[in-house]
Amino acid sequence: MKKITGELEQFNSQHADLLILGGTVITPNGAEHIDIASSGGIIVALGDLKGRWQADQVINAQGLHVLPGVIDSQVHFREPGLSHKEDIESGSRGAVLGGVTGFFEMPNTDPLTLWDADLQAKLDAAEAKAWCDYAFYIGGSAVNAKQLDRLENLPGCAGVKVFMGSSFGDLLADDDAVLRNILSHGHRRMAVHAEDEALLKERKQIVEESGDVCQHHEWRNVESAFKATQRIVALAAESGRRLHVLHVSTADEMRFLAQHKRRVTVEVTPHHLSMFAPDCYETLGSLAQMNPPVRELEHQEALWEGIKNGTVDVIGSDHAPHTLEEKLRPYPQSPSGMTGVQTLLPLMLNHLHEGRLTLQRLVDLTSAGPARIFGIEGKGRIALGFDADLTLVDLNAQRIIDNEWIASRSGWTPYHGKKITGWPIHTVVRGLVVVKDEILVGEPQGKAMAFLEVVD
Ligand code: DOR
Repeated sequence: MKKITGELEQFNSQHADLLILGGTVITPNGAEHIDIASSGGIIVALGDLKGRWQADQVINAQGLHVLPGVIDSQVHFREPGLSHKEDIESGSRGAVLGGVTGFFEMPNTDPLTLWDADLQAKLDAAEAKAWCDYAFYIGGSAVNAKQLDRLENLPGCAGVKVFMGSSFGDLLADDDAVLRNILSHGHRRMAVHAEDEALLKERKQIVEESGDVCQHHEWRNVESAFKATQRIVALAAESGRRLHVLHVSTADEMRFLAQHKRRVTVEVTPHHLSMFAPDCYETLGSLAQMNPPVRELEHQEALWEGIKNGTVDVIGSDHAPHTLEEKLRPYPQSPSGMTGVQTLLPLMLNHLHEGRLTLQRLVDLTSAGPARIFGIEGKGRIALGFDADLTLVDLNAQRIIDNEWIASRSGWTPYHGKKITGWPIHTVVRGLVVVKDEILVGEPQGKAMAFLEVVD
């Protein structure tokens, strides 16, 4: 195939802010040996630019693959209210060190993100200290349901997130009438944590009696997840609302969701793709405690099948930090959640190395997918006129993940000691180099992402 090549007309001065030379670039055409020029934060030229274009800064990408910036559409950065676990600065620092150029953050902070002022407080904090681009979810609940049409369209809002089962924090919408009310107020794709609250309550005695974390996935069993997913898909069909089912964890849901792809998109997480029960609980104890739980190998295999057959749209980390002290409380008082934003890409590159997916599919899941399903403006692919969000990776680099490397305030990863092949080397956010040779450089200059109006 002929290489893509082109320049934006208004930028044909052939002087750019940044030139990336000699890399293997993953464009919508596939892998191409081309150079990239960015000016004013956007991609202004692609092709054979060496010697023809000058720039203030040049990155030699020989031997590296240049991917469209990774977008993590599910993180919990804990600010405000819980910043002893994480804040927007530390969370986004971990993001860029792990090759992530944009994140959507979840509303179960303290206070919850339910109203205009809650969202604005997060946007103000992020404007001052986010290392990459961002958007924030509004929580959907009985108290704000009637105003969600308006709230979901506020600038910087990623959409509405609903917890059908209690996980961490006070956000909960488990009643069909409330869910109907939420679904009928708004048009954007609604993100849902699908675990059935009634079943979770009924079954909690299993672990209250045993205190055994190895039973975490028996308490929050397959049926709790599957039942909630079936309920919300049926309710969304009534109102014609598009849905995004977060962190799908069971074979049963994956098979079911494959039949509902016209309306419903699907996220899986690196931990559900990389760990399995009971091994993870035996080796990591409550560090592997997450909701929905990591389950047996047969479920993990079904998630991989969903990646192969196209049922899965995005990989989100569900980065959910808690301090080690909190995690080491006796189970089930230990909170569920683990860090993940910084290890999302390394783990997936390691899976690529092991032959579990292709690089093109990985890019679809981490960049093109989130951009497509949420309608993010100017992101998700390397193309003229798009934001110069770029993740440069060395597919052959070998590293060992270490707690010391983790930027999260919580200071730990369940993957401590894991050997990885494939590593992020440079991270570029709108043409600004924020990680160079694996080292953080520059200043936090993240901006709110904008969204296209997507018509149902
Ligand atoms: O295990 C979890 N912890 N799952 C979630 O969905 C929320 C999260 C948290 O915020 O800690």
